Parts: sequence; structure tokens; C-alpha cells
Amino acid sequence: MSPPQTSGLAIETAGLVKTFGETRAVDGVDLSVPAGTVYGVLGPNGAGKTTTVKMLATLLRPDGGEAHVFGHDIVREADDVRSRVSLTGQYASVDEDLTGAENLVLLGRLLGHHKKAARQRGEQLLEAFGLTDAAAKQVRHYSGGMRRRIDIAASILNTPDLLFLDEPTTGLDPRSRNQVWDIVRAVVAQGTTVLLTTQYLDEADQLASRIAVIDRGRVIAEGTKGELKASVGAGSVHLRLRDPAQRPQAEEVLRLALDAEVQREPDPVALTARVGGGAAGGRGAAEQAARALAELTRVGITVDDFSLGQPSLDEVFLALTGHDTRTRDAQGTRDAQGRQGHQADDTELHDTKDEAAA
Ligand SMILES: Nc1ncnc2c1ncn2[C@@H]1O[C@H](COP(=O)(O)OP(=O)(O)O)[C@@H](O)[C@H]1O
Ligand SMILES: [Mg+2]
Repeated sequence: MSPPQTSGLAIETAGLVKTFGETRAVDGVDLSVPAGTVYGVLGPNGAGKTTTVKMLATLLRPDGGEAHVFGHDIVREADDVRSRVSLTGQYASVDEDLTGAENLVLLGRLLGHHKKAARQRGEQLLEAFGLTDAAAKQVRHYSGGMRRRIDIAASILNTPDLLFLDEPTTGLDPRSRNQVWDIVRAVVAQGTTVLLTTQYLDEADQLASRIAVIDRGRVIAEGTKGELKASVGAGSVHLRLRDPAQRPQAEEVLRLALDAEVQREPDPVALTARVGGGAAGGRGAAEQAARALAELTRVGITVDDFSLGQPSLDEVFLALTGHDTRTRDAQGTRDAQGRQGHQADDTELHDTKDEAAA
């Protein structure tokens, strides 16, 4: 690994592994997170995001590989790592029975601030996070969005060099999501590096400079947003025909016009195709889609509904892995049944490794 002080990396991991019994929750993860940026770790439920974050925050010990945070080994120099990081997520430490203000003062005191300084910092954060009106309310009465904000406020009482935000907006309404996004931007503007995990492509798109897509404990794609999108196509065309009998012809016309694979949806009048892959980007996608629509009309195919959208996380996964995100939700079931299809080779590899280790 390169010398830590000169690398400009907040996080550098190599072959990081964590297993829980038969489950390889994190299965050889390599990450390089530049300091001073938001780095997105994008993946569905059960992909290994929380496990990765907990190892990097020194809450879990890795079973293999290594990782450095600001040059400090997360196992051998865990105290140094702990002094520079903060974690917000399912494990935040606010007390439901205390008010928002009481929580921040208490945590400030625990961090060694004098009473007055702790109160001032608390007030400052409550104000910055739009929680002044709720300062005297018990946290148990906070809405989901307020709860997420007080969690983040608590985790940046002492401005950390690295903040882990583990799915900070999952389950929030759009307005609360936007508030959390603004907070993340403000935190980074102050020089903190943020590692953000998310299940939402649009969230990573909004906030992150670089994104690692993880699936089944592995990084399956990494790059800037532009690189990632270009690799899966800039968007998807969805269309519904008037007459299901015209679908085979429409499919052929689209395939030629878009030079892309066209998928039949379960709905007998619906087709989907990815467009605008490669250098053309978003504008190319819109032009391609418009040309395809004109061509359909020209040959007499009636289109009832037509839309061009950014690829969803499902589509990104489908493009990168050949399977959709939902196959991973039932992790227990999958592990009980063994990995199937294109994963068969991996299973053999794991078994071999496990035997070697035993
Ligand atoms: N403490 C644990 N004991 C057993 N299995 C676990 C534990 N924590 C996580 N796992 C499993 O490891 C996999 C990855 O989990 P996790 O890191 O929580 O994923 P994510 O945060 O991306 O949803 C899942 O299959 C999960 O069930
Ligand atoms: Mg998680």
C-alpha cells in the first residue's frame, strides 16, 4: 500500500473480507476514497454496505484483507482511526427520552466540552439542521426526517475528518431527503470526507463524486458518476403499444433505431431498451429516443405511452450483473439454497478458500 501521508486518500482497503458463518458479507473489497469528497457506496439490501462501514469504523474486525483510514491500520491502529471518524446510521447514540438539545449537550460533555461550549455547539447545530423549534422536544416524538438530522448532528459535534453515513435517507419522504442532502453538502464543504452508503442511484448521483457499486460483498463497478452511467447507458426508453400484435415489429424497429437490446416486459404491450451508452451521454440518449419514436410512427405502430428515464438501480444492476437487485433481498434463502447460475464458479472458489483456511 502506498505511504499513507502522501496518498491523499481517506480510506484505502485491499481485499477486505468479513464472514458470518456461511455468509461472506464482505468478500474482498478494494476501495480508494479520496479525502475531502463524498464517496458513494451503492448497493441493494444485504450487499455488505453496513458490514464494510462497521469494519472501517473499527466496530467489527475484518477476517481478511487490510484497510487504512488516513494511513492508520484499522486493526493495529484502531484508536487512531477512532479519533478521526464518526458514524451515523442504525447505531446512532441519541437517547429517545432526552430532548434534542439535551442529547447534544450530553454528547458534547462526553466529548470533553465544557458546559457552556457544549450548549453553544448544540444550539448552533440545532439551528443549522432546522431543529431549533424541536430543541425542547423528546427525540421519541421526532419525525423520521428530524430523527435522521439529529443523528447526523450528534455525529458531527466534533467535526470528524471522516463521517460514515449509512443509508441516511432510507425511508424518508422527498422533503426530508433533500434536507439531509443539504446537510451532507454542508459537512463536506467544511472539509470532512463522507462515505455514504445508499440503495438509491439518484442519491449517489446527487451527492457523490465517485461511486462503488457493491453486490454480494464485492465491488462490481467503480468510477465517477459519468463513467458509471456511460457503462450502463444514459437512460432507458419505456414504451407501451396500443396493439400487442405489433410488439414483435416494434421490437425490431427499436433494436435497429437504438442499436440496443430491447426487452419484453411482462405486460404484453410494453417494451424497454437502454439508450445512449458510451460517449454520447444524456443528450445522445434523448436524440436516439426521439428518432426511434419517429421511426415507429412512420411504419404505422401506435405508441400509447413513451418515456425516457435515468437508469434505476435495478437497471444498473441488471446491466452490470445480469440479475436484478431483488434476488439479493432474501439473503438467507439464497445462502440456504447455494449460489446459482453465474455465481457457481464463485461458490467453488469460496469453498476452496475455506478449505485452505481450515
Ligand atoms: N451480525 C451478523 N450476523 C450474521 N449475518 C450478518 C450479520 N450482519 C450482516 N449479516 C449478513 O451479511 C450480509 C451483508 O449485510 P449488510 O452488511 O448489513 O448489508 P447492507 O448493509 O448492504 O444491507 C447480509 O447477508 C446479512 O444478512
Ligand atoms: Mg445496511
